[in-house]
Amino acid sequence: MNILRHYIILALTLIVLTNCKAQKPTKMSKKNTIEQKINTLLSQMTIEEKVGQMNQYNGFWDVTGPAPEGGSAEKKHEHLRKGWVGSMLSVRGAKEVRAVQKIAVEESRLGIPLIIGFDVIHGYKTLSPIPLAEAASWDLEAIKNSAHIAATEASASGINWTFGPMVDISRDARWGRVMEGAGEDPFLGSKVAAARVKGFQGDDLSATNTIAACAKHFAAYGFSESGKEYNTVDIGTSTLHNMVLPPFKSAVDAGVRTLMNSFNEINGVPVTGSSYLQRDILKDEWKFDGYVVSDWASINEMINWGHAKDKREAAKIAAIAGSDMDMEGNVYIEELTQLVKDGVVNESILDDAVRRILRVKFELGLFDNPYKYCDETLERETIGSQKNHDAVLDMAKKSIVLLKNENNLLPLKKEGKTIALIGALANDKTSPLGSWRIASDDETAVSVLEGMQAYKGNILTYAKGADVTIGKAEFIQEVKINTTDKSDFEEAINTAKQADVVVMVLGEHGFQTGEARSRTNLQLPGVQQDLLEEVYKVNKNIVLVLNNGRPLAITWADENIPAIVEAWQLGTETGNAVAQVLYGDYNPSGKLPMTFPRNVGQVPIYYNYKNTGRPTDKDGNVFWSHYSDVENTPLYPFGYGLSYTTFKYSDLKLNTTSAVIGEDISVSVNVTNTGNFNGKEVVQLYIRDLFGSVTRPVKELKGFELVELKKGETKTVAFTLNKETLGFYNNDGKYIVEAGDFKVFVGGSSNTSLETTFELTK
Ligand code: BGC
Repeated sequence: MNILRHYIILALTLIVLTNCKAQKPTKMSKKNTIEQKINTLLSQMTIEEKVGQMNQYNGFWDVTGPAPEGGSAEKKHEHLRKGWVGSMLSVRGAKEVRAVQKIAVEESRLGIPLIIGFDVIHGYKTLSPIPLAEAASWDLEAIKNSAHIAATEASASGINWTFGPMVDISRDARWGRVMEGAGEDPFLGSKVAAARVKGFQGDDLSATNTIAACAKHFAAYGFSESGKEYNTVDIGTSTLHNMVLPPFKSAVDAGVRTLMNSFNEINGVPVTGSSYLQRDILKDEWKFDGYVVSDWASINEMINWGHAKDKREAAKIAAIAGSDMDMEGNVYIEELTQLVKDGVVNESILDDAVRRILRVKFELGLFDNPYKYCDETLERETIGSQKNHDAVLDMAKKSIVLLKNENNLLPLKKEGKTIALIGALANDKTSPLGSWRIASDDETAVSVLEGMQAYKGNILTYAKGADVTIGKAEFIQEVKINTTDKSDFEEAINTAKQADVVVMVLGEHGFQTGEARSRTNLQLPGVQQDLLEEVYKVNKNIVLVLNNGRPLAITWADENIPAIVEAWQLGTETGNAVAQVLYGDYNPSGKLPMTFPRNVGQVPIYYNYKNTGRPTDKDGNVFWSHYSDVENTPLYPFGYGLSYTTFKYSDLKLNTTSAVIGEDISVSVNVTNTGNFNGKEVVQLYIRDLFGSVTRPVKELKGFELVELKKGETKTVAFTLNKETLGFYNNDGKYIVEAGDFKVFVGGSSNTSLETTFELTK
């Protein structure tokens, strides 16, 4: 057995060497070579070994789902030796990864290396802001760089595959996982998806500091009914094709090497068992040649859904539907070999899946050097470097959104003032790290208190006011919120009384969003709203700094508090970023990637809604589409965000008012910085297709540009509208562009009113 294994390794090495010698491979020849190597290897593999490649086990300590069944370390080691494991997740650290890789490579018959997956969601140890916050920057270069930094740290720690980017569009702030994505819009979501894929994967997947990306969760997980986690999804074809799928397509076009399916069903079919999504659309139509991993035991969950009667049937359905790898479900490893032997599942299904998995392993260079990510010296040098801290600080500042700034309360004066800082979150070094940061340690963020202390010209006083949580909040436990204890209010009120300005840091704990963190209430959790109102009674000069992983309903604050800063959970450098923005050393330019509701009853609320047959109360009567107890608008719309300066838009022009389908239309607008600070503005372009064979939204984002403008400066910003932006998917999933009248809007938010029109003709 051993001799055979060595013979095969030798043969493979010879193939590699021969090819290396021949020439510096071009892209095509490299691809061909990989395909040949896959053929050779595949021809040596038993059915069990093929199934083994499709099997992924969780590591031995971090758990990100319900406790796995019968997954002892002994069993996993034994299966590694047998070549029955293709991948492991949540094993981390150069040394630890080397240990499992060594078993797979040196003790199994064929020595096929493992691919090591991990949730590198917004950084590895040095953390960037949560992904929703990053999307608020609308800065694609910065987002790409943030993913690159994450890949650099993760790859130095043994990891070569991230379960990111999460590209689920969601309109429902009740759903805790909105923190992981890019918000509600498919156009912004698609751009961010591509930027993240390129950041993780770089130009060369075989480099030691790049890792394979994974677009997840395929598909429609963000449309879980009523925002409840793991719930059913029931959406129409138009929503699927126009809202849900575009970011996945964009990730595929950007070269993403893997996708993860999702826990939800869609229209009665669990997506893990959906051939329509995984084969027809992804692999056939989009020509995706990487592989699909299931979500954590999502193959087994088809039994609970009532779609498969037992594990055997679940394995059959998932494999045939194109789920190539089973994450921690033990279903493939237990059932698939027999299913093939019984002739129920064709071996060609296995060959296709294994081919895809091996392809990515070859591309990563794992066959050339399985230990290439296991260099402990590199790991020590890379993780937490100054360069990485600088990058995440830069990203954090760019992610902050200024929501309100009455009477220019911000930026704060740097000298001669007394500033009261209030809120438990202001003195928290863990919560700002956000959710999904398994590799990073608690207490490693710069707190807002620490960030503010760096500015020495003012007197800074601090009072907690109230705890947000009771006890320590943890990733795998329900967070307990303090709903009763107001014993520290008095100290906070007294501190506020003596201050010129009060900065209150309030919001959600980092673990109040993320997986399994759906909420039915979007107000400030616990007693924080009461604290805000009590402090307001003694000092109205309040700057509210929000920490949160989802849109919150802060209507009272919007009506009463003069300055509001959306600071999300900004990662390792949180306090420095917040302080630099509050003191005006950085002028905020973020724009909301998700609509903020007035109250939870408005949810789902989003800017690209349909007009309905009764959009207004033009007759002054009650018969129109609205709620009778709240205004029909959001609190803050998608795309909204202020700056310390002001911008004026003028001269919106098109090169034509009538174009034939297929012709480009050029749009230009002048943007002037009319305020007192240099600043940046996200110039946004929206269209409205007035009449369609499938009704169109009242606005659709179709372009944006981040421009930097000095005080008094004017720039002309140009956009092009074309076939790719003027069409939509019809109810057969076919992309079409229809003739008709269009509106074009340009401005600094989705509620801009600067508009013009054109027509498209056949
Ligand atoms: C999540 C995935 C994640 C996986 C592995 C699942 O519970 O839904 O997003 O990648 O766990 O940690």
